[in-house]
Amino acid sequence: MDKSHVSRILIVDDEFLHRLPMSEALRQAGFRVEEAEGGLHAWTLLQQERYDLVITDVVMPGMDGFELCETVRRKEEFRHLPIVMATSLDDLSSIERAYQAGATDFITKPIHWGLLGYRMHYILRAARIAQTLADRESELLRTRMEIIRRLGQAAEYRDNETGQHIHRMSHYSALMGQAYGLSRNEQELLQHAAPMHDVGKIGIPDSILLKPGKLTDEEFAIMKTHTTLGGKLLDQEPSLLMRTAHTIALTHHERWDGNGYPHGLARDAIPLLGRICSLADVFDALTSKRPYKQPWTVERALDEINQCSGTAFDPHLVRIFFDILPDILKIKAKFSDPLHDS
Ligand SMILES: [Fe+2]
Ligand SMILES: [Fe+2]
Repeated sequence: MDKSHVSRILIVDDEFLHRLPMSEALRQAGFRVEEAEGGLHAWTLLQQERYDLVITDVVMPGMDGFELCETVRRKEEFRHLPIVMATSLDDLSSIERAYQAGATDFITKPIHWGLLGYRMHYILRAARIAQTLADRESELLRTRMEIIRRLGQAAEYRDNETGQHIHRMSHYSALMGQAYGLSRNEQELLQHAAPMHDVGKIGIPDSILLKPGKLTDEEFAIMKTHTTLGGKLLDQEPSLLMRTAHTIALTHHERWDGNGYPHGLARDAIPLLGRICSLADVFDALTSKRPYKQPWTVERALDEINQCSGTAFDPHLVRIFFDILPDILKIKAKFSDPLHDS
């Protein structure tokens, strides 16, 4: 039999006389078995070798079973490692604590040696399925993020040669979100959705998008539709990320005073993430080269933002932006366009 396909089990127990029959029963059930004399010994082995499952006693001198379980679970790479705790049949509080510590399952003493192998095969199979599902889920998330990033970049390439704009403005947005007090999840959502703010530009003709001079009223009316086009493109998506992107695409040109587009929303009626992206987008647009303008200096751009506090922008967000300016400028330097920036 090919030994590489045999599951490895680590038995953790301070009593040699407890480990002995368990090792024997598991070997007979077709497993490779190794033993640790306590929690600390097991933790050392786990960091050196790869095991498929751990069976641990609860009461041990030094690091006990609960502590071992908690220590293992704190490490991301062991998130799905099955840990089985061996407890006494009548010790219900230990069983509860075992689950709280992150145990996968428990076996009760006295252990029925003939059934132990079946039980471990079952737990391993369930763990393998959980691992496969988790792998697929993270793969799906990675793919989705990548598509989103490229979609945003595709729109940006049309009027910005390097596409660095979306990196800068999404980082500015996330920083502002953090300073505003958004949760970590909301900040990440904002950072990943913001790159799609101008995705609707895909539907704007080059003659308008790349026009070096000022747009006529008619051309500007078409240009404005990149918000609703983006909104349509991202509409009816079930994922929270895409719904957030939809909100941002639709509202990043609304103004605090109600004179923005496409819907002329004012103040708090404009979703917060739209208000944040609006400021981040404008600051970056002002300080970057565009087909119709040279980059402004940071001082001039800040002056403009200050002047537009309460008209174009939410005054509270303007204050936040100035508070975190050193961090904003670090992002600006990190994702600079060497040929274009001031
Ligand atoms: Fe836009
Ligand atoms: Fe933009």
